[in-house]
Amino acid sequence: MAFKTSKNLILSAILAVASVSGMAFAAGGGVYGDYKMKHPDWSFNGAFGTYDRAAAQRGYQVYREVCAACHSLKYVAFRHLGDEGAPFYLEDFPNPSDNPYVKNFAADWQVADIDSETGDVIERTGIAADYFPQPFPNDAAARASNGGSLPPDLSSMVKARSGGADYLYNLLISYDTPKPDSVELTPGLHWNPVMDGGKIAMAAPLSDELVTYEPTETMYNGELKLVDPPVATVEQMASDLTQFLAWTADPKLEQRKGVGLMTIVYLLILSLLLFLSYKRVWRNVKH
Ligand code: HEC
Repeated sequence: MAFKTSKNLILSAILAVASVSGMAFAAGGGVYGDYKMKHPDWSFNGAFGTYDRAAAQRGYQVYREVCAACHSLKYVAFRHLGDEGAPFYLEDFPNPSDNPYVKNFAADWQVADIDSETGDVIERTGIAADYFPQPFPNDAAARASNGGSLPPDLSSMVKARSGGADYLYNLLISYDTPKPDSVELTPGLHWNPVMDGGKIAMAAPLSDELVTYEPTETMYNGELKLVDPPVATVEQMASDLTQFLAWTADPKLEQRKGVGLMTIVYLLILSLLLFLSYKRVWRNVKH
């Protein structure tokens, strides 16, 4: 009897700890108010996942036209955009420095450099080998322009936050959720249910049709066709950006998953051969 009671005690203690830590976990997830996290079925999830190239290309446009004003992408070089598995890879241009997209994008930015003759700091047009320039000369300047808060680098943001791609997507689409009274905002802070404490120093960066998506050219039955772009709603831009920033955070994902698949196929064939040779070796032996 005594034994039974202590067993029950232990059991209920375990249950109590589990439910308390469950509650703590929900709070630590940082979702405030009635907001329900959305979990889109990302094309890059799963064993055979790949990036949605058209979406990632649009995501680059949104980064360029909106986020780049405040956020750097300092671990990405223009030429990376034309690598195999990257959003702007073209088979005809295995060397990304020759890729016309890469060249155009690089030329669209000014980068800081040192004049090799005078030693002066100069600005020059970007080239494929340059890394994305930083929007501010240093952290102090970045804070001064953003009410004291530092816009983090976005190169590996999708890996840096728990929740990954879903976190980034929900952060961008959830600004218009009704704010509970319990969250009090001081000047310079904005309500966002996905942030810890429900507060963020970044004002909603996206609004419907903030960017204009262009039609894309696609080969269809051997003919070049113009395909209408999707409407640039907040959700669409957030999802496109997530594809782009998932790629910057994990540019080798497709190669890695490809190697994984080949390894599985190889092991399956190997197992079959081993099984057949086992049959053959033991064919005449009674067992
Ligand atoms: C006007 C400047 C500005 C623009 C434009 C801007 N941000 Fe921010 N962003 C900030 C600042 C400042 C912070 C820091 C917020 C804080 O610490 O509360 C931030 C924080 C973030 C964070 C980190 C949130 C976290 O978990 O700490 C992400 C992700 C982010 N921004 C993504 C974006 C994306 C994507 C875009 C483009 C659609 C964008 N931002 C546009 C200023 C900006």
